[in-house]
Amino acid sequence: MRTPIIAANWKMHKRVAEAVEFAAAFTHRGEAFTGVETILCAPFTALYSLGARLAGTNTALGAQDVYWEPKGAFTGEISVEMLTDVGCRYVVIGHSERRALFGETDADVNKKVRAALTGGLRVILCVGETLAQRRSGETAAVVTRQLQGGLNGLELADPADLVVAYEPVWAIGTGENATGDQAQEVCALVRQRLGELFGAEPAQSVRIQYGGSVKPANVAEIMAQPDIDGALVGGASLEVEAFAAICSGARP
Ligand code: PGA
Repeated sequence: MRTPIIAANWKMHKRVAEAVEFAAAFTHRGEAFTGVETILCAPFTALYSLGARLAGTNTALGAQDVYWEPKGAFTGEISVEMLTDVGCRYVVIGHSERRALFGETDADVNKKVRAALTGGLRVILCVGETLAQRRSGETAAVVTRQLQGGLNGLELADPADLVVAYEPVWAIGTGENATGDQAQEVCALVRQRLGELFGAEPAQSVRIQYGGSVKPANVAEIMAQPDIDGALVGGASLEVEAFAAICSGARP
């Protein structure tokens, strides 16, 4: 039985005070989503204060990116140790915005995933095809390449350390979510590929999220799919009401 896992991806939103205020209101409602693992992935600047506010609650702290080197002359970058130091448990790696806007490659993603897992962070690895790739029938090939590239050479000591988020790029921030069937088809493929990489048993335990215009109204359809264990939520995670409704909608 895989524990449902819902993560907020705030992207470049929320100042420190807004993040802390959100956490206070959100954790207050914790009973509404008992049995669901919840994570707030905040901008770097809010992590320290947000981590202090989340300490002792059931909601984990997450970052949205990390650099693979442990320390040194890498102006502007943030290491795994810096993230664990402020209380991060999770890090999102390989989000499509980072791939498209900042040129992140599967090789970069692989280095980040390795560094994160070695340093004790759990990883939310994002994969997903663009609309053009879907239309030309490349979805399976793209997702397979991103998984194999991102997880190349890795050993998975504990399946709970890895979450894969399937996020079709055409569904992100567009209001147009994938249907339950479309999402399930790719998430089943993700689980099959994880089986080839790590063995069938660990692959059954890895949580797979769907991301792309998840909202309170469609979370039930998403969660009803056999290979989908949660959601990575952008826009709808910015408001406490909507995000709490999504989390309670994911209860088993
Ligand atoms: P969205 O974003 O929920 O706003 O579509 C999801 C994401 O980018 O993780």
